[in-house]
Parts: sequence; structure tokens; C-alpha cells
Amino acid sequence: MRVLEPDRILRLEGERVVLLDQRRLPDDEVELACRSAAEVADAIRELAVRGAPAIGIAAAYGYALAASRGDDLNEAFAVLAGARPTAANLAWALREVEAAADPAARARELHAEEVQRCRRMSVHAARLVGPGSRALTHCNTGGLATGGQGTALGALNEAWSQGLLQHVFVGETRPLLQGARLTAWELESAGIPHTVMADAATGSLLAGGEVDCVFVGADRIAANGDTANKIGTYPLAVLADRHAVPFYVVAPTSTIDLGTPSGAEIPIEERDPREVSSRFPARNPAFDITPAELITAIVTELGVHRAPYAESLSGAVAA
Ligand code: MRU
Repeated sequence: MRVLEPDRILRLEGERVVLLDQRRLPDDEVELACRSAAEVADAIRELAVRGAPAIGIAAAYGYALAASRGDDLNEAFAVLAGARPTAANLAWALREVEAAADPAARARELHAEEVQRCRRMSVHAARLVGPGSRALTHCNTGGLATGGQGTALGALNEAWSQGLLQHVFVGETRPLLQGARLTAWELESAGIPHTVMADAATGSLLAGGEVDCVFVGADRIAANGDTANKIGTYPLAVLADRHAVPFYVVAPTSTIDLGTPSGAEIPIEERDPREVSSRFPARNPAFDITPAELITAIVTELGVHRAPYAESLSGAVAA
């Protein structure tokens, strides 16, 4: 399996957090060096680094940077936590480094743990892929989004290396094209056959019987299993349900937020409308909520969790 090296995606290097700038991919592979927590927060806000687990790791590195510079740590925590509101991993990772005696060591350890979580959840999720499957995915949930081998895309990569996968359809993921730019780039590097589609084209693809399973990631999973993910995920889940295609969410336990009872309480990031239209009035919600009842299974590093999620998720996280 060919995946990006974790250090290539993001790393703490001396007095800098170095990120592979995802805004420039796939055309240019350039690194961005952040020298303060505020610069890391800017990089998160502007999507130089993105994807829930990767955001968490970047924030942890940003906090560690502030600690090593002797900066005000409450301020660093606040600026990083406020960078993006939806991904549960951001606040979770910050709480982890805040509680650590050595924030830099804990941040690096957290990154290594996320790499392990990706590996384990990919193996669990690949078991859900039948031989010869044609999968559909949305947004980017690969190495770039996680600092490891990925969540949903990690699972598809694992299924490919086991000879189970035939093809991956990739929703382009309007408005910022994480699917068309980043997922297609990762699939190309891994040598996995893929086709990019307009998001709106996936309905007729499902109706035509061309998709055997849908795999997506998550930015926050509420206690009842309702899941926030990139805008366009909810319509895909409705369509998958309509056409009796299994719909799987793959995410680490660091994305599960048992303190959020349901999707109704998940804050949804509203981004700059100019990302949608620079000329006409626009709205730009970055995420939507997929109700738990539309999710066939949620896969974490601990295994495959089925409904009722209030029981299966809390049991898994407690264990
Ligand atoms: O706005 P983004 O690109 O950060 O949104 C990312 C997603 O929605 C991913 O699907 C999610 O973070 C899971 S990544 C493993």
C-alpha cells in the first residue's frame, strides 16, 4: 500500500510546525512553515491543513510550539480551538497537550497514535468491502486528512491491497474540491483506479447500480451516532438509503464526542460565501449532519459499531 509518510504531511521541527500546503495540491507540493500558534491557527482556518484528525494534530503541534516559545498558553489554546468549530478532534487534541508535562512529546505521540488508529480502523473497515466492489467516497479522508493512512480512504486503500476493490468514484466536493484535487491525487499515487464525478452526478450513479458501497469520514460523531461531515455527505446518505447501498462512516474515536448528544448540537462552520460565489449572494455551510438512521455502520480503530449507536459508541469509548 502506498501512502504519504506521516512526517511529510505535518511535523514539529525545531521552532516550526511544517505542513504540506493542501491549498496548492495537486499542482505544487510545497511546504508551509508556521512559527507561532496564531500562524498554525491561520493555516487551519485557511485549509492549508484540513481533515479532522490532521487539524487536531496540527493544533497539538501549534500548542507545543507556543509552550517552547514561552508564549501565553491560554491564548494559544483559545486561538487554535477557535480556528474551526466542527471537528471534534481539534479541542480533543488541545486538551491532551494541555494536560501533558511535555506538550511537544505528547503532540508527537498523539500523531503516532493517530497513525496507529488509522491502520487499525482501515483493517476493520476493509472487511466490509466485498470482492470486486465499486466504492463511492466524498471529500478527502486520506493521509492528508489524518497524518496517517486515512480513515475512509485508508479503508479503501487497505481493501485495494487485499484485492477486494475494483474502482473508486470520487465526488469532487464543492466548493473547494477536496475530492477532485486531494483524493484523486492520493488514489493516483496509490495506483487505485478512480473516476472523479460532479457531486450532483452521484445520484444517477447510485440509481444505475454502479456503486456497491459508500465510505466517508467524519468531523464529529455525536453520542447518538449522528455524524457531521463535509457538505454533501447527507444527500449521499439519503441516496444510498434510497438505492439500498450500504453507507459506512470511518473515523477514529478522537472524532466521537459523547458530550454532544445529537447532530442538532454540532456547530456547523459557515465559511466565507466568496468560496461559493464571488459575484452573487451565497451561503457556504462547510458540513452537514447525516442522521444515525442512515448509517449502516460506524467503524473506529476499535471495530465495527452498529445501531443503536448510543450503546455501541459509548461502550466502545468507555472500553
Ligand atoms: O473542510 P475539510 O476539508 O477539513 O473537511 C474534511 C472532511 O469533511 C473529512 O471528511 C473529515 O474531516 C474526515 S477526514 C478523515
